[in-house]
Amino acid sequence: CMVRHYKFNVVLKNTTRLCSTKPIVTVNGRYPGPTLVAREDDTILVKVVNHVKYNLSIHWHGIRQIRTGWADGPAYITQCPIQPGQNYVYNFTLTGQRGTLWYHAHILWLRATVHGAIVILPKRDVPYPFPKPHKEEIVVLGEWWKSDVEAVINEALKSGLAPNVSDAHTINGHPGPVPGCPSKGYMLPVTPGKTYMLRIINAALNEELFFKIAGHQLTVVEVDATYVKPFKTDTIVIAPGQTTNVLVTTHRGGGKYMVAASTFMDAPIAVDNVTATATLHYSGSLTSAATTLTSTPPKNATSVATNFISSLRSLNSKQYPANVPLKIDHSLLFTVGLGVNPCPTCVNGSRVVASINNVTFVMPKISLLQAHFFNISGVFTSDFPGNPPAPFNYTSTQVTNFATKQGTRLYRLAYNDTVQLVLQDTGMITPENHPLHLHGFNFFEVGRGLGNFNPKEDPKKFNLVDPVERNTIGVPSGGWTAIRFRADNPGVWFMHCHLEVHTTWGLKMAFVVDNGKGPNESLLPPPSDFPKC
Ligand code: C2O
Repeated sequence: CMVRHYKFNVVLKNTTRLCSTKPIVTVNGRYPGPTLVAREDDTILVKVVNHVKYNLSIHWHGIRQIRTGWADGPAYITQCPIQPGQNYVYNFTLTGQRGTLWYHAHILWLRATVHGAIVILPKRDVPYPFPKPHKEEIVVLGEWWKSDVEAVINEALKSGLAPNVSDAHTINGHPGPVPGCPSKGYMLPVTPGKTYMLRIINAALNEELFFKIAGHQLTVVEVDATYVKPFKTDTIVIAPGQTTNVLVTTHRGGGKYMVAASTFMDAPIAVDNVTATATLHYSGSLTSAATTLTSTPPKNATSVATNFISSLRSLNSKQYPANVPLKIDHSLLFTVGLGVNPCPTCVNGSRVVASINNVTFVMPKISLLQAHFFNISGVFTSDFPGNPPAPFNYTSTQVTNFATKQGTRLYRLAYNDTVQLVLQDTGMITPENHPLHLHGFNFFEVGRGLGNFNPKEDPKKFNLVDPVERNTIGVPSGGWTAIRFRADNPGVWFMHCHLEVHTTWGLKMAFVVDNGKGPNESLLPPPSDFPKC
């Protein structure tokens, strides 16, 4: 294995999209940021230098960070932020992982523009479990706001209302032509009769997306850096935080084909309706040739999303077995959703909040991981409720159970404990999809369904053989998903909705996993350049 060094200068850069220019926070002046490339089991050192006026931290989304929680990145969870003018070296090893992941800022809303791909190649001489593609391409999906994103969320917090939605989606940083503001958009050159692998990442702040290419089928081979049983589809569904690798085989002819990304949201809330477009351009085709168009499903096409999600299965081969925990130490039910708390200074006298088991998470003043490692009391409590305060009809819209409790409460696990966690959407304001991301682990999605989870009947239908393994899972609107994982990584691990507005509103919590007794079962000490609060 190798040690790979990267340097991230986080700088402002004037960037023009949708006919207007604004300074954005970037890695090395690039949007999306540079791609990190490494091999399974390599060690990566990224020196992050903060040249902007904001506090900063960077998260390596999906990297397990075994025993190196100090490098995980969520501000005030595993580290104090890197202050303006300061730097920090993130140092971690890619133990047993290969595939597409990504990095992003994990403080404020900086991840809108501070993000990029992580490509982890298999070990040398280990082939993919599918035919080797002719070429591989990164496809980062995002959102673009004409306004400054920090102003957008600050305005929303002041008013107590939902923030403005983005002005356009992006594919590799470009919206493509939109009415009134033509621009070419991203172009992917291909040659006929070859297979390409697209490493697709949803880096958008607040929207799940459909993704499609005119005239081409997509073969899904991997999600969240775990191999899946290959299946064909014309549309993929991808939530913020998730990654999906697909194979695309070009035909014998030529031409230009539209690549499109648009919102999937089956709740009656405001979304960005602009479809981002790019072009698959066959070699030899004239630039002036007409593009074959496609349209993505309507934003409330739940059946398209459900079909896609239910097609995902772990590869579960001899080489890549699905090690689903069968014996469970902690059986938890977390309700996730939005609520309303009183706010005398807000527009309606109330503000939208979000919660898990009715707890709206309050960020601490120093990082939870420091508090845990150095036994600093008064920073958090270990009494996060394993069940909702009282059972209710979770998915119906209702005014009871509205106000939430505030707290910095963690759920404590012993090393190697196994967890079954049912994530149940609540519809107190309205049912909505929530892509939940767990740091430090992959988990298996053993079941999902609509309505209220039934603890007697539903577990009988769980898939314990080849469930999909991921790090970010969509809790269906008005339904539930059940995941299982093994707490084999000591430290403090954040879990939150990857719709950034919901995280801001408090849809987050953390697990604290104690050290084991074995020689390699304890959290390592923090590095010497660890940022101070
Ligand atoms: Cu990709 Cu805690 O986030």
